[in-house]
Amino acid sequence: MTNNDSRPPEDDDQQTTTPDADSLATDEAVSDQPATPNTDSLATDEAASDQLPTLNTDSLAADEAASDQPPTPPEQQTETLPAQTPEQSPTALTTTEPESSVPRTKALMVVRDLKKTYRLGRDTYVQALRGISLDVNPGEFVAVMGPSGSGKSTFMHLIGCLDRPTSGEYWLSGRLVSSLSPDELASVRNQMIGFVFQGFNLLARANALKNVELPMVYSGMPRGERRRRAERVLRLVGLERWMDHKPMELSGGQQQRVAIARSLVNGPVVLLADEPTGNLDSLTGLEIMGVLQALNEQGMTIVLVTHDPHVASFAKRRVEFLDGQVINDVLVEPLSARDEWVRVASEQAAALAGENNGEEVQVMEEHNKV
Ligand SMILES: Nc1ncnc2c1ncn2[C@@H]1O[C@H](COP(=O)(O)OP(=O)(O)OP(=O)(O)O)[C@@H](O)[C@H]1O
Ligand SMILES: [Mg+2]
Repeated sequence: MTNNDSRPPEDDDQQTTTPDADSLATDEAVSDQPATPNTDSLATDEAASDQLPTLNTDSLAADEAASDQPPTPPEQQTETLPAQTPEQSPTALTTTEPESSVPRTKALMVVRDLKKTYRLGRDTYVQALRGISLDVNPGEFVAVMGPSGSGKSTFMHLIGCLDRPTSGEYWLSGRLVSSLSPDELASVRNQMIGFVFQGFNLLARANALKNVELPMVYSGMPRGERRRRAERVLRLVGLERWMDHKPMELSGGQQQRVAIARSLVNGPVVLLADEPTGNLDSLTGLEIMGVLQALNEQGMTIVLVTHDPHVASFAKRRVEFLDGQVINDVLVEPLSARDEWVRVASEQAAALAGENNGEEVQVMEEHNKV
């Protein structure tokens, strides 16, 4: 939880973040709510605002902004996150390190004095990370912020096992992964980490279902199981009616939901998102933040990179980078993306209604002149 070197004096039982099926109870109670916009829904939404944030089946943003009806938030989530198989459980991974060197902490991720130096030319080096130390506990929702070039993406690459540090340690679920070989690193990455990027990174020629099945093809899962899991995570993000659609036939928000579903399908212990709303309009961005908040409510640990303080305001913890170092690390009370979605959509609908009224008055005046 801190960015210093102290390690919590706790036992070393490692936790997985696979959520409890009981967490569905409240969702099921509200899952019958209509997915389509209706004028009564704002009151219902307010009453339900302390329940799980909602997921959307349609791209409501564009349609509702264009309507003069009061908007409704995305519909309720009705599925839990996929559970890890025993082979995927982080505790099932063996460690080769001597037991005494394992940090005695319940943190999911333990980062110690992580440095990364890129070599640009023969004598030119860039110190992208200059000694990052922090812990991330299971169930946290962390926003990593900082100006361009401060090392945010480099940090994500390291904690996502896409790259190795120049020096320092990174422990994931009790395993020292910073010194693994590239093959071992790839295996940890596939089993334990879900990625969501700004650009969605979907296969254009494959439909949503096939895109989500892809990581399981790589992990050698039988076809039937692949299909079952892919359908489940697509339902989880509210895309049950869009499984046959290719990326081009989906809105930006829906494409990002496919990417989120794909990131979840192998049962990761942490979701890493680098500017996941960067390509989306503000309302669709809120929709995606609502999806991430809903996943976090179900127990998923999330580390998000953003340069946008508004996006960061939906996380529970804010870590600020500057010149490859942590300069601030605070817990914050997050805003509700769902409430914010209702507020912004209402404002947009009201502004549109105002514009329409203005046009009507003008038409009436023209008509009276005639
Ligand atoms: N593969 C690389 N080779 C050389 N230098 C790199 C490489 N990746 C990043 N850098 C450098 O490392 C520093 C940190 O880059 P990084 O991409 O981590 O920043 P960032 O905080 O993600 O920035 P942005 O907000 O623009 O995405 C920068 O000076 C960048 O030029
Ligand atoms: Mg970056």
